[in-house]
Order: sequence, then C-alpha cells, then structure tokens
Amino acid sequence: MTNAVEPTSRIIVALDFDNRRAADEVVDRLGGECRFYKVGMELLTAAGPDLIERLVAKGKEVFLDLKLFEIPNSVAGAVRAAGSLGVSLVTVHSMGGTGIMSAAVAAARDFPRLRVLALTVVISMMRFDLADIGVTGSTSAEEQVLRLARLAEEAGCHGVIASPQEAGPLRKALGAGTLIVTPGVALPGESPGEHARSGTPCGAVAAGASHVVVGRTLTRAADPVAAFRFVRADLEL
Ligand code: C5P
Repeated sequence: MTNAVEPTSRIIVALDFDNRRAADEVVDRLGGECRFYKVGMELLTAAGPDLIERLVAKGKEVFLDLKLFEIPNSVAGAVRAAGSLGVSLVTVHSMGGTGIMSAAVAAARDFPRLRVLALTVVISMMRFDLADIGVTGSTSAEEQVLRLARLAEEAGCHGVIASPQEAGPLRKALGAGTLIVTPGVALPGESPGEHARSGTPCGAVAAGASHVVVGRTLTRAADPVAAFRFVRADLEL
C-alpha cells in the first residue's frame, strides 16, 4: 500500500468492551466516520457473534482478533466460522508455527474477502519477556518479529500484526502487498501507556504500516468523533 490510500480506510477502531451496549454506543456515535472495527475475545464472548453480523450488515469491515493458537484442525474451523460471519481480517499466532498458519490460510480460501494476519510479538513484550519464554541470546523483539513475519509470509498469510516501531523493517522485508497492521499507537502528545514499542499513527504509516488499530484513546474519549478525526488528521500529515 502507498500513502495515497484514503486515511479513513487505514483506521481500525478496537471495540474492547465487556458488553454490547458500550460497543453499540461507540459505533452509533462514530456513524459514517469509521468503516473498520476490531472485535476481540472480550466482546465476542460477552456479546456473541451476531454483534459481528450486525456490523457487517451495516457495511462495516470487521477485524476479528481471535489470536488463534490451537491444533491446525481447530484453527481451520475457527477461521471458517469467522469467514461465515463475513469478517475481513482474522488473526493467528505465528509462534504456533507453519502448521497453524497454513491451516488458517487454507481455511480462508473459501471466503474471498477474508485475510489472515499473523500476530508476531505482542506489543507489551520486550527482550526480557522473550527470554522468559525461552527466546534467548541476543534476540531482540524486532529480530523475533522479522523472523516470525517471514515465516508467516512463507505460510501464505496476507499480513502481520506488529508494533509501529517494526513497521519500517517489516515493510523492507515483506512484499509490497502484505498487510502490516499496527496496534499500540499513541496520539502525538499522549503517553504510550503499557505499549512498550509504541509510535504515532502517522509514524507507523510513514514507515510502512497499512493499517493502525486505535483503541481506548478513541473509544473512551469524551468525544470519539473528534478523536477519530484527530487520528485521521495525523495520518494526513
Ligand atoms: O491500547 P489500545 O486500547 O489502543 O489497544 C487497542 C488494541 O491494541 C487492543 O485491542 C490490543 O489487541 C492491542 N494492544 C496490543 N498491545 C498492547 C496494548 C494493546 O497489541 N500493549
């Protein structure tokens, strides 16, 4: 993707809520401003899959962030279930290896609009967290992200999830059409909070990200529409 892409289509708003009403309220308030929402395990479990079907029926794109890490047969089944709901993006853990990712990609083929994204290294993780789980030696978070992203590309995944700080190296390492979706963005002047490898939306896209995921900074804002426009304006810079 190039920076000529219309900024609104790059913004994915994360509906991280524990109830349907709160999610509906944000979607209603954002109205036609926002076209792309992320639904994670919390909201899916609390509100059920018909929330997703209703978003799709409203013409919204849905990123169903399941972070699948299971035996390949179960991953394939979950991807088919996601495809049947009409979602556009679904996530699988690259640390689960080629078998899981290939199973997800094969299952997605029946759903032309469905893309499989591989989660590389969760954005709150640093070198010492990787050492704790046995990724040792001199491996930095960035090296691990690149290693997993290459594996994901070989397995046929359509894109990866990574931090804004890895967007540049990833864009150099991956094909031009590969999606690079970056959560963990903080707006200019905002504290990065628990996002250890954070960056701004503008910085992430300039470095090569295709999409940015924005969550609480927007959904908990007093005026979510103004916050959405602020993110879009940052992407227009
Ligand atoms: O922090 P924020 O509310 O913007 O988070 C939006 C999304 O980014 C979350 O749904 C989560 O999946 C992802 N995230 C992440 N690493 C973090 C914090 C959030 O990947 N440290």
